[in-house]
Amino acid sequence: MRKKIIVANWKMNLSFKDAEDLVSQLKTQISKVPNVDVAVCPSFVYLPQIINILKGSQIQVGAQNMYFKDEGAYTGEIAPGMLKDIGIRMVIIGHSERRQIFKETDEEINLKVKAALKFGFIPILCIGEDLETREKGEAEKWVNKQFLAATRDLTSVDLEKLIIAYEPIWAIGTGKICSGEDAVKINKSLRKTITEKFSLALSEKIRMLYGGSIKSSNFSEHIKHNDINGGLVGGASLKADEFLKIIELASMAPVKA
Ligand code: PGA
Repeated sequence: MRKKIIVANWKMNLSFKDAEDLVSQLKTQISKVPNVDVAVCPSFVYLPQIINILKGSQIQVGAQNMYFKDEGAYTGEIAPGMLKDIGIRMVIIGHSERRQIFKETDEEINLKVKAALKFGFIPILCIGEDLETREKGEAEKWVNKQFLAATRDLTSVDLEKLIIAYEPIWAIGTGKICSGEDAVKINKSLRKTITEKFSLALSEKIRMLYGGSIKSSNFSEHIKHNDINGGLVGGASLKADEFLKIIELASMAPVKA
């Protein structure tokens, strides 16, 4: 069964006080939606405090990124073991902002996926095309290429925990939304690739999220599909009321048996 999961990607937003208020509100109100996994991914510097506030709640805490090396002279980077030490079990990898602004390559993302799995994390692998690629009709080809590059040298056993987030770049933070039908087309083509390259069992197991300008006013359009198993939410995850509404939509949506 692919349980729905809603993940908040706070990016480089919120003061510490605002972050504390937000998770405190989420913690008290979340018990109304028990059939959905929920995670928040705050800035690195807030992680220990947010983990502490959320102790005893169903809300998991993830990291927005990490380096792939175990330790060493990598000024400014965060090692997987450091995240594990403070209780992190989930990490976003290959977000398009990391790829575009910080020039992360497919090779580095592959190393990060491997490091995440080695440390027992749930990797949320982000893939998605830009507008030009979509307009050329090459979106499916592009995301499949990104997926295969990110999972190079891994097996279907390794990838059991993987979550994929399909986030078309042109829909991130732009207010433009990819239709549920178009996102499903991408997911179906990814599941076909996973079946061919890995196994049918893995393709049925992997949770695939949609991300890009999700709001409570547009998310029903995605989450009603059996093939979309949740959302990676940026802007709309910064306000408790709005994020809770999105979680509620996921809790009412059908679950693939
Ligand atoms: P957005 O961001 O919801 O603000 O478009 C999503 C993301 O980048 O993960």
